[in-house]
Amino acid sequence: MSDNSENSTGADQHQTKMDVLRSKELQSLEGGGQDRIEKQHAKGKLTARERLDLLLDDNTFHEIGRFVQHRSSDFGLDKKKFLGDGVVTGYGKVNGRLVYVFSQDFTVFGGSLSETHAEKIVKIMDLAMKNGAPIIGLNDSGGARIQEGVVSLGGYADIFYRNTLASGVIPQISAVMGPCAGGAVYSPAITDFILMVENTSHMFVTGPNVVKTVTQETVTAEELGGASTHSSKSGITHFSCSSEVQCIEDIKTLLSFIPQNCEDQPPQVDHNPTSDARPELDSIVPANPNQPYDMKEVIESICDSSSFFEVHKNYAENIVVGFARLGGRSIGVVGNQPASLAGVLDINCSEKGARFVRFCDCFNIPLLVLVDVPGFLPGTDQEWNGIISSGAKLLYAFSEATVPRVTVITRKAYGGAYDVMNSKHIGADFNFAWPTAEIAVMGPKGASEIIFKKEISEASDPEKALDEKVAEFTEKFANPYIAAERGFIDEVIYPRDTREKLLMTYEMLQNKVDKIPRKKHGNIPL
Ligand code: HXC
Repeated sequence: MSDNSENSTGADQHQTKMDVLRSKELQSLEGGGQDRIEKQHAKGKLTARERLDLLLDDNTFHEIGRFVQHRSSDFGLDKKKFLGDGVVTGYGKVNGRLVYVFSQDFTVFGGSLSETHAEKIVKIMDLAMKNGAPIIGLNDSGGARIQEGVVSLGGYADIFYRNTLASGVIPQISAVMGPCAGGAVYSPAITDFILMVENTSHMFVTGPNVVKTVTQETVTAEELGGASTHSSKSGITHFSCSSEVQCIEDIKTLLSFIPQNCEDQPPQVDHNPTSDARPELDSIVPANPNQPYDMKEVIESICDSSSFFEVHKNYAENIVVGFARLGGRSIGVVGNQPASLAGVLDINCSEKGARFVRFCDCFNIPLLVLVDVPGFLPGTDQEWNGIISSGAKLLYAFSEATVPRVTVITRKAYGGAYDVMNSKHIGADFNFAWPTAEIAVMGPKGASEIIFKKEISEASDPEKALDEKVAEFTEKFANPYIAAERGFIDEVIYPRDTREKLLMTYEMLQNKVDKIPRKKHGNIPL
């Protein structure tokens, strides 16, 4: 044979090898096949790869493990193999920043989790941890691969374990875009944020059929564990999204506020410095102390224009939490909401606030706390269900936070709630009060009824006597000046100046170094 023909045979073989790779690559893009992709679309859902296309910057996705296949042979599985085994994993960029991703492919065995499917997720999680970048999971799965039994359960546990180790090290975000049932819910539950899509995603430990059998309740999947349920009733999901596209947009917005890992600082964005005076704030607190106003208006007014991104919007609305920017820098905002239950602290809002504060503290996001709180919610329901330990969670979360912490008391700061809401005493760095602030053990009426009980009951006109005592108490105590005399308030400011003062204060605090005592870990009252 001539040299030429040898060369051409070699080149042919080479080309064939390239073709094999290309054909395998194309096959891996097909998931469970065109029919199942069409079924997925018919349900109003995107495929695993379409979701990644939306999430990641163009041409930045690098897939890992696209040829992985399961190793099972029971129940005829040896004849049913799909490249990738029901999950697309890899890394890419979101707005130029590295993220690790997994996206479950419902078209392959319903996205169910096999041993190898779990190994792919674990590999991505380990890479995310070692390289200090967020991990984003797009969940759409029928749960444990039933044919694999305990091997699949082991795979879940491997993931849960890593979720726990990664907690506080790298941000973990879970989007639930289809079913997520049984023990599978515990991976998203350990992560920092859960997003769900209305009408197409469901999370429950036991589904409607089991519920019917055990408790005789008839409930649909949507009622039991849909986005609306979990965003308003249980608080399990932080974001209820109107569509998958919206869900992906929300993930991107969320990422824009948070750093890559616990050693990193949150991203800064350019902002147009306009006048920082906010005259509208001077009149936002109504003259009548029992009249509500919307704390979100205060937040919008103080923070950079349109930067407020609310978390847990529909849950425990008596506290508002979310990310915003001040002078282009990320902050975490926690505010009592006088427009909902008068801004009282109860079980749900204390836990909502505590979790958010701890996230911000894990990831170096300074805190802004806006206070207008009449106290804790009284009642047997609250006491029997544990307001004591729930309130303690919020207290604990603020107390151990070492990020810059600034408080502005806009109106009421009564009783234990004054202490809890990032008071000076529990380590806040700077405490402002507006002239409308009322800082006392309790409100003027309640206080007068107790301390002047005898005088009022013996008065010829008890009602008039009570009014007089309330006026006297209000004059003496319902103001910020006694706290300011003690140094519990650093500065009483005109509301219009709040933004300007905060800009200077966070700049002053930007190199803050603070440490809590060395310990294995604390024991937050869970
Ligand atoms: C293997 C599964 C599967 C599973 C679905 N499929 N779930 N295969 N293991 N867990 C397959 C189906 O056989 C089908 O295959 C394809 O996925 C699509 O499923 P459909 O039922 O046709 O889809 P749909 O009508 O949309 O219903 C989706 C579903 C339902 C609600 C998720 O499939 C379902 O109830 N699945 C079982 C859920 C479950 O009980 N999982 C185990 C939970 S226990 P073909 O070939 O027809 O396309 C658990 C424990 C975790 O997860 C514990 C961790 C500690």
